[in-house]
Amino acid sequence: MKSSLNTGMEIPRCVTFQDGQGLLPCVEVRTPASEAEIYLHGAHVTHFQKTGEPPLLFMSKMSRYSSDAPIRGGVPVILPWFGPRPEAPTHGMARTQSWTLKEITLSGDDTKKLHFQLPACQVPGFEPFTADYFVTVGTTLELELITTNNSKDRNLVFEDCLHTYFHVGDIAAVRVRGLQGARYLDRLQNQAEKQETAPEITVAGEVDRSYLDTTAAVEIHDASFKRIITVEKEGSRSTVVWNPWIAKSQAMPDFGNEEYLQMICVESGNVIENRITLAPGQSHILRVRLGSRPM
Ligand code: BG6
Repeated sequence: MKSSLNTGMEIPRCVTFQDGQGLLPCVEVRTPASEAEIYLHGAHVTHFQKTGEPPLLFMSKMSRYSSDAPIRGGVPVILPWFGPRPEAPTHGMARTQSWTLKEITLSGDDTKKLHFQLPACQVPGFEPFTADYFVTVGTTLELELITTNNSKDRNLVFEDCLHTYFHVGDIAAVRVRGLQGARYLDRLQNQAEKQETAPEITVAGEVDRSYLDTTAAVEIHDASFKRIITVEKEGSRSTVVWNPWIAKSQAMPDFGNEEYLQMICVESGNVIENRITLAPGQSHILRVRLGSRPM
């Protein structure tokens, strides 16, 4: 319930607290250029839309909104592991934790910056760590995930990923640029190692690839919405491209059978071989800026 938020932090008409779906508390943000919505559950950005454009983020109409399940769509925060792990939830526990809203900062150029914090974590198999997540809403959506190793004497080894679901007009009209030449692991073929030869990636079937050592910006060209989405990043060496296509969509209880036509995940993080090793007391910053321009 929104009563778990300190209403003294609200800024009338700009940053307001709501009971979201499933009565999970969420924060609505409005700027002259855009609007956004963030749930405390998972510090999950479920909406970002620039004025006059379709929403940038895809949200499944079938998503669960429950304290024990991840939200489907938007930007799940994946930490401290990516993918399946024996006897543990897929993609880590951060996306099903309730984060704390610590601070809201306004800046002169009308952006609003929200600071979320993951309560201190003791996760089996990991050194103790903390995570701070800054969400800046303006003409772009900026996301900054800072993970800190709180151990006094041991390295923290972890994966992180901002598992962004983008909203597209028609997957058939989408081209993903910026990954040509990159090595990737294909999860559909038991993580077989391959090389991307195409200058543009198109999706005409299930795609589940982890591109490694990819630090450059990626663009999603969507001829249907006549929009180019830009994904600029720092502190990220991996890019995951995922579309579940027909059979997997039908198998997921929290995803509509046809919704794969309107989404593509282009995820920025550090996964598998690109996992991070942090010395005691050190922090790692993963920073992503999501923008768009007309085609
Ligand atoms: C992607 C993975 O990042 O997330 C896929 O590469 C996975 O393998 C997908 O299916 C969705 O995961 P989940 O746990 O949210 O259903």
